[in-house]
Amino acid sequence: MNLIVAVDSNWGIGCRGNLLVSIPEDMRFFKEMTTGKTVIMGSATLKSLPGGKPLPNRRNIVLSRKKTDFGSSVEVCSGIDELFALIKKPDDNVFVIGGEEIYRLLLPYCKKAYITKIFKKFDADKYFPNIDLMPEWTLTEESETKNYNNISYRFCTYLNTKI
Ligand SMILES: NC(=O)c1ccc[n+]([C@@H]2O[C@H](COP(=O)([O-])OP(=O)(O)OC[C@H]3O[C@@H](n4cnc5c(N)ncnc54)[C@H](OP(=O)(O)O)[C@@H]3O)[C@@H](O)[C@H]2O)c1
Repeated sequence: MNLIVAVDSNWGIGCRGNLLVSIPEDMRFFKEMTTGKTVIMGSATLKSLPGGKPLPNRRNIVLSRKKTDFGSSVEVCSGIDELFALIKKPDDNVFVIGGEEIYRLLLPYCKKAYITKIFKKFDADKYFPNIDLMPEWTLTEESETKNYNNISYRFCTYLNTKI
């Protein structure tokens, strides 16, 4: 399976339950990559989505240890074993979409990481691990540097050579 994330220059990903910044091209990229696929997220990330609603046109799986009812269009699992039983084939059509707890939990099972690197430091309270320091992760593709409202960013693809 894959993961997709947008990080700031300090690997920050969120603050007070929200994203750090919204870059239209990055939002479009996220939508293109995940539409028609399975997305896996933590309950806090589900709550952060517009209206706290699951993403349309995707199979939404939420990790939560509580017995909360997230509605009929969300599949809930209480742990990693239940998750893998549910997805059966953790292939290229499965995307881990956050947040911090879930990225950390599932990073070792991901083959590919689509990371939008935003070259600015924001106030953050949630972080993605710095995979530039992890020997198993190799940067394989990088876009040119792009710009939105004086914020520069780049689309990067990493491969986990351990799996
Ligand atoms: N920049 C990005 O690309 C990006 C992407 C996604 C999210 N974010 C940001 O990340 C932040 C949210 O991250 P977060 O770390 O607070 O929350 P999270 O990872 O979205 O969700 C955490 C919740 O997941 C559940 N959980 C965690 N480990 C579990 C396990 N082993 N088994 C079952 N359930 C488990 C728990 O839910 P219960 O409490 O219900 O038990 C826990 O409270 C927000 O600010 C969001 O905007 C950023």
